[in-house]
This record gives sequence, C-alpha cells and structure tokens, in this order.
Amino acid sequence: MIKIAPSILSADFADLGRDIQRVSSADWLHVDVMDGCFVPNITIGVPVVQSIRKHTDMFLDVHLMIEKPARYIEAFARAGADLLSVHLEADHPTGIAEALKKMEACRVKKAVALRPITKAEAVLPYLEGLDLVLVMTVEPGFGGQAFMEDQLNTVRRVRELIEQYNPACRLEVDGGIGPKTASAVIAAGADTLVAGSAVYGADDPAAAIAALREG
Ligand code: DX5
Ligand code: ZN
Repeated sequence: MIKIAPSILSADFADLGRDIQRVSSADWLHVDVMDGCFVPNITIGVPVVQSIRKHTDMFLDVHLMIEKPARYIEAFARAGADLLSVHLEADHPTGIAEALKKMEACRVKKAVALRPITKAEAVLPYLEGLDLVLVMTVEPGFGGQAFMEDQLNTVRRVRELIEQYNPACRLEVDGGIGPKTASAVIAAGADTLVAGSAVYGADDPAAAIAALREG
C-alpha cells in the first residue's frame, strides 16, 4: 500500500493550519526540520511540531536534517512526532545508534535517511531495528529541486536489503517526486512518497495526492 506524505516545506507557514487541512486526504504529514548546519537552510523546530500536533491527528513524519540529532529526539517525540528520521551523515555511528535507542525509549517509529552520496549498504548496521529507510532523491535543503535519476539505483538496492533483512520496513523517497517520477520510484521499490511542490503547487492538492498514490 503506497503512502503519500505531503511536505509542509511547500506550505504557507503563515497559514499552516489551513495548508495542513488542504492535504488531510494524505496518509502522513512530512515535516522538514533544518538547522542551517547539516543543510544550508533553516526551517522549523520543536514548538512548531507541538502546534501542528494540536491541530491534526495525521501521522507526523519528522525528517531531521540536523547535526548530532540524538540531542533532540526526546524533544521532538514529546512534541508529538510519530516517526523520526535521522541522517546517517549527521553523526558518527555511535551517535546514530544513540538516536535510534532514544526513539525506541520514546516509542516513536525509527528511521534513517540517506543523502544521495551515501551508499545503500550504509543502512545495514541498523536495518533490522528500523521502521523506515528514507532515500533522498535530491540534495536535502530545499523544495522544488529536480529528481536525481541515479537515485533509482539506491532505491532498488535498499529495497533488496529490506526484503532480505527486514521486510516490514517501509522505503520512503523524498525530493522531486511528482506525476512524472512517482511511477519510477514505485517500480524501484518505494512505498512511501514525500511530495512538497507537486502537492502544494497543484490547483487541487487532494487530486494530486490521489494521482501520486496511483503512480
Ligand atoms: C528537502 C526536503 C523535502 C522537500 C521536498 O530537503 O527534505 O521534503 O520538501 O520537496 P519537493 O517535493 O518539492 O522536491
Ligand atoms: Zn524531507
């Protein structure tokens, strides 16, 4: 079952409540947290996640693009995140393991994310304990970028590893996903599609969500 997770990075932050409502037919809500260090952009933090939680019952898929994310796991979990993803490039392996341990203790779903430069095999030390792997199909930092075709190979390889070691784990793709790329990522093995500009840039976001789900 394909899940669609609209990214509020493409929403109007001054009218966020309304823009969350506009995508309420989606499965998850994707929240991009950026610290200006791990990526060259700063977006939103814990208090905003807390406000979103009060506003919607949607599953909150929180993508942490921050250095040493273990420092903030409890805070985002308390704020109401349902799933947290940490980038494998954002800390040493011990820091990533610590972040995942904290997620377990906080009872949030556990995910790791890969920048385009990172090989699929980098997930192996963690894969058996994960709920989701997030493969970036653009360089993290900004919405509206062009899909990186080469990343289909990474998606395929991560799908193979998931089938081998943890078939229940979901495989999410993020970046440049729209009507032209959805079918290719689904064919490569993705089951969870993040889309920012393709959903919020559409005249009818609910129709855009339904179309993405069909691939
Ligand atoms: C980029 C973010 C994405 C972004 C995707 O670093 O992680 O979630 O919002 O935007 P689109 O779908 O416009 O590429
Ligand atoms: Zn994201």
